[in-house]
Amino acid sequence: MKKYIAEPFRIKMVEPIEMTTREEREEELKKAHHNMFGLDSKKVYIDLLTDSGTGAMSDTQWAGIMRGDEAYAGGQSYKKLVEVSKEIFDYEFIQPVHQGRAAEKALFPLLLKEGKFAISNMFFDTTRAHVELAGARAIDCVVEEAKDPSIYADFKGNMDTKRLEEIINDKGSENIGLIVMTITNNSAGGQPVSVKNLRDTYKIAKKYDIPVCIDAARFAENAYFVKQREKEFKDKSIEEITKETFKNADMFTMSAKKDAIVNIGGLIGIKNDEKLYNDLKANVISYEGFITYGGLSGRDLEALAIGLKEGMNYDYLRYRIGQVEYLASKLDDYNIAYQKPAGGHGIFLDAKAILSHIPYYEFPGHTLAVELYRQAGIRTCDIGSYMLGNDPDTGEQLKADFEFTRLAIPRRVYTRAHFDVMAEAIKDVYDRRDEIKGFKITWEPKVLRHFQAHLKPIE
Ligand code: F0G
Repeated sequence: MKKYIAEPFRIKMVEPIEMTTREEREEELKKAHHNMFGLDSKKVYIDLLTDSGTGAMSDTQWAGIMRGDEAYAGGQSYKKLVEVSKEIFDYEFIQPVHQGRAAEKALFPLLLKEGKFAISNMFFDTTRAHVELAGARAIDCVVEEAKDPSIYADFKGNMDTKRLEEIINDKGSENIGLIVMTITNNSAGGQPVSVKNLRDTYKIAKKYDIPVCIDAARFAENAYFVKQREKEFKDKSIEEITKETFKNADMFTMSAKKDAIVNIGGLIGIKNDEKLYNDLKANVISYEGFITYGGLSGRDLEALAIGLKEGMNYDYLRYRIGQVEYLASKLDDYNIAYQKPAGGHGIFLDAKAILSHIPYYEFPGHTLAVELYRQAGIRTCDIGSYMLGNDPDTGEQLKADFEFTRLAIPRRVYTRAHFDVMAEAIKDVYDRRDEIKGFKITWEPKVLRHFQAHLKPIE
């Protein structure tokens, strides 16, 4: 078993959480129509639904909250955020927005329209949605090894550069509006992308004159993996790796709710295209607010400026990824399948392998999520066919490449004992896996159904 890396902080404030009985949880599941997003957070013991906006801010960040400058225009907190961001990413233009999807909404329509395509190592669902809302089509192009959870590879988040070039030639380079590099690759299991892969992709993009955007939600975790796994960067700092990473793109969008450890916030960076920045400002003012606050309060900007740096601290990252690796090593002891190796922000249990008797249309990833809540009050979510939904043309259930149950780990929130509870709960569910039955949907909305659908266990 892997050693647990002790917390590089001590606890100054606590938030009590409620212990529930199994009977209570059965009741709560019924009330929620067996939808994890329908559960009352008070009835969740360990909440692993997402690592987004759920981190614990530091005393320095809370102190920053008090110092936030709430001026509508020209605020000091805005200036501080822009300065810190320029220093980290080496980009000329920095624009705050209220979260990641706001960045996508403001930027993508400037680059994409009907008839265009965007290609990514893998789109996150809101990113895909904003490509499509701009009228374009989204194509995923991740390396093959990502698709087999049982095999180990250092950089399962990488773009398949050979296929990328084939797609560009097939669709016509003039029809490719954007290439998006998601670091780390969330949908493939929080898997990192190597700097070499970023360089290769950028080279191809330049050859065909296509802009590259980094989806930077988990950029610091990606840099940590690069330091661990890519020889060239063994002795480089997280700061140096980050600079090298962002050289290989023209812009970035960021949900700051992840690696920048704030409860709300986002960023857009543009390397040097002033015209694009001017167009972007017009969108930001219409959708988000004036450019010097971008939909956030001054205190949020202040906390973000501080969090960006804290999230890049090596000792913190070592502890953070160490937690995930600790849980993974316990699962290895029990022989429980997950996307290997452990991701940066969580463990993606391979529900297809664990509940191999449940077909995709009875939602193994969702079923396992329900069982973990039933077992120990742990809330997780499906990243599989349940989330993917139906074919918009035929209405038929689509079959996902993966059937994952995602345990997304909030930052600086749970302790070793919580991780032991998680491991035990997974093992207990695993031991009774043969008795577990799948689900069917009894009601669903037309779009993004997984957030709201009602489900019923199959008898
Ligand atoms: N890009 C990636 C890679 C993401 O993981 C997310 C959000 C976004 C963009 C959108 O950012 O939520 O701030 O608007 N991911 C969260 C998750 C919700 O649970 O994985 P947002």
